[in-house]
Amino acid sequence: MTLLITGGTVIGPTGAAPADVLVDGETIAATYAPGTGPSDTETLDATGRYVIPGGIDAHTHMELPFGGTFASDTFDTGTRAAAFGGTTTIIDFAVQRTGEVVRDGLAAWHAKAEGNCHVDYAFHMILGGVDDDSLKAMDQLVADEGISSFKLFMAYPGVFYSDDGQILRAMQKARDNGAVIMMHAENGIAIDVLVRQALARGETDPIHHGLTRPEALEAEATHRAIMLAEVARDCPLYIVHLSASRALAEVAAARDAGRNVFAETCPQYLYLTLEDQLGAPGFEGAKWVCSTPLRSKHETHQRDLWQGLRSNDLAVVSTDHCPFCFKDQKELGVGDFSKIPNGIGGVEHRVDLLYQGVVDGKLSLERWVETIATTPARMFGLYPRKGVIQPGSDADIVLYDPNGRTRIGVETHHMNMDHSAYEGYEIAGKVETVISRGEVIVSSGEYRGAKGRGKYLPRGLSSYLV
Ligand code: URP
Ligand code: ZN
Ligand code: ZN
Ligand code: ZN
Repeated sequence: MTLLITGGTVIGPTGAAPADVLVDGETIAATYAPGTGPSDTETLDATGRYVIPGGIDAHTHMELPFGGTFASDTFDTGTRAAAFGGTTTIIDFAVQRTGEVVRDGLAAWHAKAEGNCHVDYAFHMILGGVDDDSLKAMDQLVADEGISSFKLFMAYPGVFYSDDGQILRAMQKARDNGAVIMMHAENGIAIDVLVRQALARGETDPIHHGLTRPEALEAEATHRAIMLAEVARDCPLYIVHLSASRALAEVAAARDAGRNVFAETCPQYLYLTLEDQLGAPGFEGAKWVCSTPLRSKHETHQRDLWQGLRSNDLAVVSTDHCPFCFKDQKELGVGDFSKIPNGIGGVEHRVDLLYQGVVDGKLSLERWVETIATTPARMFGLYPRKGVIQPGSDADIVLYDPNGRTRIGVETHHMNMDHSAYEGYEIAGKVETVISRGEVIVSSGEYRGAKGRGKYLPRGLSSYLV
């Protein structure tokens, strides 16, 4: 089956130009100057629309076990919501629980995802421990399983935490096998001291989550990770969910020195603040508990993060989608903020929220597409199959209506959450049509896809390193 998308403006990292796009089966067959494509094919009118590559969300946590509960989106509900928001690929984090065999953790993740996804999916691997076995498994996963990135935690002592020696060993392994180390950069040992001290003072409300995770402890861990990666002969390092000005300055300095250091931020750090949490009545501030935490609007963070996106010191915007319902999940932390499951759900809103940055003059159209699709594909070994509109690539395409409007809230979102951290946000712009491997799966708010149509994507090595 062929389909000609006509009349739209195709946007890629190198520019925006009017073009018609021919889809043949699951892939893009050709692009044409407007009006010059074949006439004997079905057409889709994209007049007045941006035609962009389907979004790639490189950081999601479907069904993540956390604090005695599980993230509330399954691969079914979460990937369907992603599709509504113009994201046609997710990279989720498979988990090796501490003490578990890495391959068993991976098998469990395949079992959760297989047959349930509405869009294509890939995995990073969270290492819950670094020892001889998991180091060997890193080689096997890169060679045989299409997993070329591993997340380590400087936070969460006793859960996912790795110490500096373990981190160094994993980085040395990654240097040798070409993998990327993804780092949750917060000094968890020091944070735990602050948490215990706060609780001992009777400071139990959700706001104390953020107050016990100061910027300095994100910047310190970011610096330490960068130094450890240098010792590991410039192992590729990708800082996840970067939230703060001083952590960004560490990344920028390393990049200016030509290092293989990269970072992502997330929409919550670009839009939400500690004051959203402070202003919420009673325990409702728990809705904004995530790690790294939201930062204060009275500091420089959001301004600097937008600047980092423009300068490419922040290369990617992912969601860190880790939803928990307020009822019975966030509520686990009533009386003790440290028991609130960490995470914000947003897999459905990333493309829209970043487009708002274009409307606000903070980001170019090209950077919008680059940070939400093209660079994640390059960074994580999916390019050029994903992340670009060009012949031979998968036909993952979004028609975006710049004159539409999106209102975010629990009444309209498709994520399995009983609240929204962005309740009431109005975005100028709207995802109109979503095509995944040649199939229209969302059309003007109607869902036309199906559970199980999303495929596992084994990934190659990153093609983004210096
Ligand atoms: O609060 C967050 N980010 N929850 C998900 C786990 C993680 O650290 O990414
Ligand atoms: Zn993390
Ligand atoms: Zn720079
Ligand atoms: Zn995460």
